[in-house]
Amino acid sequence: MSRLIETSFTKEDEKTEVSLRPEFLKDYIGQEKIKENLKIYIEASKKRGEPLDHALFYGPPGLGKTTLAGIIANELSVHMKVTSGPAIERPGELAAILNGLEEGDVLFIDEIHRLSRQVEEVLYPAMEDFEIDIIIGKNGESTKSVRLDLPKFTLIGATTRSGLLSAPLRARFGLIEHLEFYTPEELKRIIIASAKKLSVEIEDEGALELARRSRGTPRLANRLLRRVRDFAQIKYDGVITKEVADLSLNAMKVDRDGLDELDRAMLQMLIENFNGGPAGIDTLAASLGEDAGTLEDVCEPYLMQNGFLNRTPRGRVATEKAYRHLGLEFKDSSDYN
Ligand SMILES: Nc1ncnc2c1ncn2[C@@H]1O[C@H](COP(=O)(O)OP(=O)(O)OP(=O)(O)O)[C@@H](O)[C@H]1O
Ligand SMILES: [Mg+2]
Repeated sequence: MSRLIETSFTKEDEKTEVSLRPEFLKDYIGQEKIKENLKIYIEASKKRGEPLDHALFYGPPGLGKTTLAGIIANELSVHMKVTSGPAIERPGELAAILNGLEEGDVLFIDEIHRLSRQVEEVLYPAMEDFEIDIIIGKNGESTKSVRLDLPKFTLIGATTRSGLLSAPLRARFGLIEHLEFYTPEELKRIIIASAKKLSVEIEDEGALELARRSRGTPRLANRLLRRVRDFAQIKYDGVITKEVADLSLNAMKVDRDGLDELDRAMLQMLIENFNGGPAGIDTLAASLGEDAGTLEDVCEPYLMQNGFLNRTPRGRVATEKAYRHLGLEFKDSSDYN
């Protein structure tokens, strides 16, 4: 099944993603509340000459968490060291990374909910007091613990699943921000800025059509822009008009509400095989041959936000809008809700 958001992107897409990434706060479109907060924190930290408080960004993939981390480092004129939860296997590895930081640096840990408990425990004193205890020696008798001072740094964590973050870790962040889906207007601005960088000619209406069908997600908007550009150049006269956007997106099976094949498959499975629900996420995933995490992180937030799906204690339920969207007759399953 084609997965526009996650699996069907190419090396070329990744390169473009890096080149389209805004570098400073002024070029970061949308997420106004977060930007306002960040501006204040960044300015205060600069004035005091102290590192920024540790920050946690959470929300669905492709909304700009990594981008924000980079922007913070740029605004503070410091280096950013990038790693991820699953990449740090042992406490010693984290200790080495921390020890290699310079005063004021940003340490970005992606998928921070996937840190092991032992690694997390090294992080606690590092975040709180900028120190770690390292154990020297191997067998019981000769081991001793040595305290090591660290440079003052800022930890920026990102996760698509804040629910999976342990409470003690969460409590150590001074700044916790949830990234929201972007409005079509915001995405339109992002698309126009990207088109400019990619030297693609796009009409306002074309940009808005793309924006409406990008699931509120800048990464997808940029990716679809590149695909539509190909269509425009090969099949049309190079300019992305509303019509070109519409025809190309239809050809890519992105529908008018921006749902893609997997979104529709999930709803269809729920309606046709589970009578509209409730059905558990693992059952749904198994029936679709998909990973439950993908459904939960990628499909669900958008489907729920847009009223296609409800989450109940007994499982997922398709809404009347979902039936209508798929052209199916609505059967009320509210008795179960
Ligand atoms: N606010 C924004 N303004 C302009 N472009 C943006 C914005 N947010 C994201 N983008 C674009 O979307 C791309 C994806 O963003 P990013 O990699 O930061 O997402 P993410 O939240 O870290 O995703 P993941 O959870 O998958 O790691 C960026 O490369 C950038 O081009
Ligand atoms: Mg990221």
